[in-house]
Amino acid sequence: MSLRVGVLTGGGDAPGLNAAICGLGRRLRAAGVKLIGFRDGWRGIIEDLTTDLDDEDFQQLLVHGGSLLGSSGVNPYRQPQRDVPRTKATFARHRLDALVVIGGEGTLGAADRLHREEQLPMVGVPKTIDNDLEGTDFTFGFFSAVEVATRAMDDLRSTAESHSRVMVVECMGRHAGWITAYAGVAAAAEAILVPERPAHVEELCANLEKVRAAGGRAAIVAVAEGTRVHEDGKCLSSDARDEFGCYLTGGVAELVAQKVQQRLSWEARHLVLGHLQRAGKPIAFDRIFALRLGARAARLVLEQRFGYMAGLRNGEMVDVPLHQAVAQRKTLSGQFLDRYESFFLPISSPA
Ligand code: F6P
Repeated sequence: MSLRVGVLTGGGDAPGLNAAICGLGRRLRAAGVKLIGFRDGWRGIIEDLTTDLDDEDFQQLLVHGGSLLGSSGVNPYRQPQRDVPRTKATFARHRLDALVVIGGEGTLGAADRLHREEQLPMVGVPKTIDNDLEGTDFTFGFFSAVEVATRAMDDLRSTAESHSRVMVVECMGRHAGWITAYAGVAAAAEAILVPERPAHVEELCANLEKVRAAGGRAAIVAVAEGTRVHEDGKCLSSDARDEFGCYLTGGVAELVAQKVQQRLSWEARHLVLGHLQRAGKPIAFDRIFALRLGARAARLVLEQRFGYMAGLRNGEMVDVPLHQAVAQRKTLSGQFLDRYESFFLPISSPA
């Protein structure tokens, strides 16, 4: 009897989701496995919403952004009394031998619990533009987002120079500054502000003043949405938190631009890159990376090794225990910050 395997994509989408489905689907189809797509992340499992993948041309799928299956932030552990039994019922109804879960920390965290607490056969694939998952050097979607942010900063420099302005560019990243750091370094931003280090308006302005004194007409400040901004020893960022206890984000680039303009009388503008960082086709690296991760997940299914996530370590595909991947967020390492301190983080002090 052939295996029956489900697949879902959960959380915020990321370029490369379709390529991961392609890598998984092609490998499983070749092994005679029946693949069932569940729609809109965990909602598809809880409410039993499926998509037929039998006639899907996986090959052509890989170039497209978004997710063929749709995505959502629904999680069975928001209302576990109701939704964990519904999850198990869907497993039984479809006689699933495995579920491949393509997602970030929240989505894979639910897969980990369902595997450990309910003995459901789970395999994970790491996805998030934030790159904040442990156990893998990178997640697919991250470099596509970095590309968008880098190009935006490159392009903004010309208009900033025409008008002799500071451009403050806000990148996604509530807890980790990976996109901001990589794009900021690549675009030679004059300052980079990340959640891993509190930003101080005084230091930022002193640094920008040096740029101006050295004859610079323009400056790019890259700031991650989750950066906490301080002035005169006080935190200016809101203390409001969401239902999970995480700081609510929004408006940091505008705040920084206002402060720079006030303190330096240097005209400043801000731009929030927002969901553009998740939009459009994946870059070639992410297509191939996601394909490889999907194919590795298929191998885990065929070997019946559950409770693992496919990952990348030093260029090689590895299998990482799901609980290790979701145990804590991978933030910018001290080593990374130190390596670039001299030219892109002089304006921040260590936390
Ligand atoms: O986790 C991915 C991410 O894009 C974050 O970088 C961002 O803060 C968040 O999702 C935005 O979520 P939403 O699509 O719900 O606005």
